[in-house]
Amino acid sequence: MKVRSAVLVESGRSFPYDLSRPLEIRELTLDPPGGGELLVKIHAAGLCHSDLSVIDGSRPRPLPMALGHEAAGVVVESREPGFAAGDHVVLTFVPACGSCGACAGGRPALCGPGAAANRAGTLLGGGHRLGGVFHHLGVSAFSEYAVVSARSAVKVAPELPFEVAALFGCAVLTGAGAALYAADVGPRDSVAVFGLGGVGLSALLAAKAAGVTTLIGVDLVAGKRDLALSLGASQVVQGGEGAVEEVRELTGGGAVKVVDTTGVAAVLAQAYAATAPGGVTVTVGLPAPSAGLTIPALSLVAEEKTLRGSYLGSCVPRRDVPRFIGMYEAGVLPVDRLLSDRLTLDQVNEGFDRLKTGEAVRQVVTMR
Ligand SMILES: NC(=O)c1ccc[n+]([C@@H]2O[C@H](COP(=O)([O-])OP(=O)(O)OC[C@H]3O[C@@H](n4cnc5c(N)ncnc54)[C@H](O)[C@@H]3O)[C@@H](O)[C@H]2O)c1
Ligand SMILES: [Zn+2]
Ligand SMILES: [Zn+2]
Repeated sequence: MKVRSAVLVESGRSFPYDLSRPLEIRELTLDPPGGGELLVKIHAAGLCHSDLSVIDGSRPRPLPMALGHEAAGVVVESREPGFAAGDHVVLTFVPACGSCGACAGGRPALCGPGAAANRAGTLLGGGHRLGGVFHHLGVSAFSEYAVVSARSAVKVAPELPFEVAALFGCAVLTGAGAALYAADVGPRDSVAVFGLGGVGLSALLAAKAAGVTTLIGVDLVAGKRDLALSLGASQVVQGGEGAVEEVRELTGGGAVKVVDTTGVAAVLAQAYAATAPGGVTVTVGLPAPSAGLTIPALSLVAEEKTLRGSYLGSCVPRRDVPRFIGMYEAGVLPVDRLLSDRLTLDQVNEGFDRLKTGEAVRQVVTMR
């Protein structure tokens, strides 16, 4: 079938993208789904910084690539038992094989074959379904339709609006999972979140839901700090030089749990410095592969700090997408508040400009 898709033709084009147009809206031929795959009509697809990092070249990927990896839609054709035409699905960005060591150990975010397919820009089953165009993270959702591995999909209730459902595929899974699983925040922990985009604010909301009362949001952008306050942050701090000292002052020596979502290695070092002795720093940021990290080695031992990464929020999507949707429906994880704008497919370059400047939190491309 013919589909309109946003295809990244070249990375590293000049900003603003509204003018340089790194994403071209092209008509592609989408092959039918193979065994274990689904044809999905995409209704909403979120703009994530991980797409932006491919666009600006900080995360190199094979090109041309059809971007978008956080989405919701309806199954049109299923080649996988357990899914049927008409099912509403959320698409996530690690197609976990279900049988490798990581999957068998309950850590599908670390699936070996899933990561290999994502690096190669193919589907889990191998190869492409979009002619010579590569898939982004097994999803390629800035498109009218997508063929995906069923292992990228989680069934959800049809009542959930698509534009809210989409956010659970990446931002919410990553941010809420980082707070609840990787950082294991509890009501008595002081918590600081560095970076208040879609992922960071999801972490903040999850910490709030876990009963955290000392909850500090750190960002460079005033509008993001204001939003964090309205979502339940107890205090906010301006990002930059003085942020570490300020978090330390507000928490009497450092936050017990710190989540970094900036994707900037130097800020991860700040997040670590703002962590209390005995505390935990979790990062979900994805800096350029060449970026290193410098921290005082002694502090790890003398202050018994823990520094850990979290991919896909250390979640099990089939367990946690329904869990987090349940929290949303119960009113304790109001992630619809992260939605800044709805865009058409043709406005996707302008959308990435707004993500880059910090004007927008989560924007979604919506398709009828
Ligand atoms: N680990 C995962 O599984 C996973 C999943 C999704 C996204 N990510 C990564 O997480 C990061 C966040 O994604 P997002 O979509 O929320 O991005 P975003 O651009 O919406 O948010 C990042 C925020 O960091 C802030 N920031 C930048 N420099 C700062 C500084 N010096 N101090 C304080 N704040 C600063 C920005 O103003 C922005 O609000 C990206 O690196 C993305 O690639 C990782
Ligand atoms: Zn993402
Ligand atoms: Zn696996």
